[in-house]
Amino acid sequence: MIALPPNLSCRDGHLYIGDCNTVTLANTFKTPLYVTDEERIRNRFLEYTRALNSRYPHCRILYATKANGNSTIIRILAEMGAGADVFSSGELQLALSAGMSPQTLLFNGSSKTTDDLIRAIQTGVRISLDSTDELYQLESVAAETGRTVEVSFRVNPAINAPTHPKIATGLASCKFGIAAEKIIPAYQAALSCSHLVPVGIHCHIGSQITAVEPFAREAEVLMELVAELHRRGVGFAFVDLGGGLGIPYNRAGNENAPSIDSYAEAVLPPCIAMCNELGIAPEIWIEPGRSLVCDSTILLTRVNSVKHAHKNFVNVDAGFNLLIRPAMYNSYHEVIVANKASEPAGDTYTITGPICETGDILAHDRELPIIVAGDLIAILDTGAYGFSMASQYNCRPRCAEVLVKGTQAELMRRAETLDDIRSTMVTPSWHKQ
Ligand code: LLP
Repeated sequence: MIALPPNLSCRDGHLYIGDCNTVTLANTFKTPLYVTDEERIRNRFLEYTRALNSRYPHCRILYATKANGNSTIIRILAEMGAGADVFSSGELQLALSAGMSPQTLLFNGSSKTTDDLIRAIQTGVRISLDSTDELYQLESVAAETGRTVEVSFRVNPAINAPTHPKIATGLASCKFGIAAEKIIPAYQAALSCSHLVPVGIHCHIGSQITAVEPFAREAEVLMELVAELHRRGVGFAFVDLGGGLGIPYNRAGNENAPSIDSYAEAVLPPCIAMCNELGIAPEIWIEPGRSLVCDSTILLTRVNSVKHAHKNFVNVDAGFNLLIRPAMYNSYHEVIVANKASEPAGDTYTITGPICETGDILAHDRELPIIVAGDLIAILDTGAYGFSMASQYNCRPRCAEVLVKGTQAELMRRAETLDDIRSTMVTPSWHKQ
């Protein structure tokens, strides 16, 4: 039996999220459907604040909005005191309209446009720079606007954290950041810019990391650099350790992920020790995405048909258009037959989506209760990089998202329609009659 996250339960044979019956939710709102439990997000955020603030009073959580960009979720986290890691002008806009103040945001990104830089300057947000080329571009844009901009650099610490190669970002070979051995000249260049003030340092070693040691190493590398830069005159307002803490997707297979508390215990002591030695007290920032929102959400998808071929294929109405993680990273998500949640396994099934590609498989070879057309499948742990990576491939409108709180359930995003898809298409003049 799967160890369910605390917001999911089995009642009278049906899967519940919060106090809502998933079978009723699917009938009411139609499938496919993302369903998120508000309490779970709040509780994860509280876990983070307790773990951080009990160790160091000047911590700040910058929610990585790319994980789940629904404005309601950003607003919930803003209300609880989160800032945000934003990676585009769009994410910046979402965070500001959710009520986050510019001082609680960091504009990250490895490839910003001049327009991005102008928008960031206009909003007064701090900017994490990814190259010295970008530094000089920002200096000239800042000079034109007559503003002074507070910046940090993203460090590439050359740390190989165990995770999928597509989401490891701290390797020396990755596109992100400036190598630790080149970071001092980059700050010296920033110190000599008349419209820029370096006030922070930033790093992010990757995502879905299920050990704390790489984070501890990252903190040590970063704090060594902070010490060196402090001696050279950089005044640190913040040290940003990035995100990356993983979650146990394979709940049946005893996959483990560190607790938020053990993460805090690994990263904060090296930071605190160095700050004490230097006599400084910068804010310590972290940028969690997945570990805040992932297990709050399930994807409900209806069985269209079952085909008994060389395998038992369960053809459902959601595919990699709505959840690309299995196809893209070979990732594992638990599957529950939501209307038969307490029935024993009866056969082995492969859950396949409606997209015209062989790789459109959500789950391989799972032992599940006997499945027939009309059954309801729940895909677990889809709150991070689920909807936010969805597409309209095969001309499939993206589905709705529902938020539940106890027994309440309401839309937080309506489903797209075919008209939505067509609304951005325009006809070149030579095709007009
Ligand atoms: N900060 C920065 C600069 C990032 O690039 C990311 C994620 C985060 C924070 C948040 O990382 P998290 O705490 O969520 O691991 N689509 C992939 C994950 C890509 C992560 C991108 N950057 C997936 O589905 O696994």
